[in-house]
Amino acid sequence: MREVITLSEFIVQSQEQFPGATGALSSVLRAVELSAKLINREVTMAGLVDIIGTMGVKNAYGEEVAKLDDFSNEIMIRSLRNCGDCCGVASEEEEDIHVFQEELCKKGRYVVLMDPLDGSSNIDVNVSIGTIFSIFERVSPQGEVCTHEDFLQEGSKQVAAGYVVYGPSAMFVYSAGQGVHGFTLDPSIGEFCLSHQDMTTPWQGKILSINEGNTAYFSEGTKAYVNWCKEIEKESSRPYGCRYVGSMIADLHRNLIKGGIFIYPATTKSPAGKLRLLYECNPFAFLIVQAGGLATDGQRNLLDIKPKELHQRMPIFIGSGAMVEKAMEFLKVHDIEKVEA
Ligand code: AHG
Ligand code: MN
Ligand code: MN
Repeated sequence: MREVITLSEFIVQSQEQFPGATGALSSVLRAVELSAKLINREVTMAGLVDIIGTMGVKNAYGEEVAKLDDFSNEIMIRSLRNCGDCCGVASEEEEDIHVFQEELCKKGRYVVLMDPLDGSSNIDVNVSIGTIFSIFERVSPQGEVCTHEDFLQEGSKQVAAGYVVYGPSAMFVYSAGQGVHGFTLDPSIGEFCLSHQDMTTPWQGKILSINEGNTAYFSEGTKAYVNWCKEIEKESSRPYGCRYVGSMIADLHRNLIKGGIFIYPATTKSPAGKLRLLYECNPFAFLIVQAGGLATDGQRNLLDIKPKELHQRMPIFIGSGAMVEKAMEFLKVHDIEKVEA
């Protein structure tokens, strides 16, 4: 008897729980899944790209081997266009939205926002990278081309979000609003198989993830919180361990499972932080909240923020609830109340 449940099977079974579901969301998720397999194959070959490149080998589509982030972007767009249930895509890699003009796509009910390859500076050093995606139901009428309004919705309106981490194993983690579920790629059959059902994140963790090299640019509140994390206090397991990969996807995947806080704060150099609200912050906020954690910009719940523009940046404090709440207390006392006084 086969025990394994594949991602495709799981998606279809979950769809059954929504009365009136048409299968359109499942089709979009499967398009992301297909892209993930293709990107994973390419990522696995990344170390060989120089060798292959000099040999002039072409990829599966007969094209010269492209930069991995361009390749990932192209693959995602191609799969989403072909699935017929997506009317447009916004990508960290592109300045404007990608409006699908095909008649079939115009009828599509969903838009997808994505960071096709997160952590791309880590490609050359063989460290985990990934794909992040966020799915909304369009607000413009079906049958017409999609508009910017479809993409500029509050994170709380996401119908699904997830990521794929290309690590020692490839893993697909997503939520469609009913818990967070993780699937590990079994390369022998080429399928993502359910390995982590109903993932939850501990309310109190022991890991701090922040680029401390930027301390000179942090606000007083952020500095004070980071210092507090390093103080000795056995009952609360302080000092916390520091872990920072430089791929948000790898840092958050680890923290989701083990518990911890990931911070990319506002700095004097980047007053709005570095990470993108639509492609990085929102999808992770949706997942972490589904897993029982918290996600804020230091003051507000990230999912309540109405985006102003596609590539808007946002500070982020995300992870184990108790840790995020504590960090917010520090910001309140040292940054907000002090400035107001
Ligand atoms: P991307 O590769 O999509 O540009 O994203 C990189 C991001 C994120 O993954 C990571 O957490 C962060 O940049 C690291 O930034 P610093 O090097 O400034 O710490
Ligand atoms: Mn990124
Ligand atoms: Mn990227």
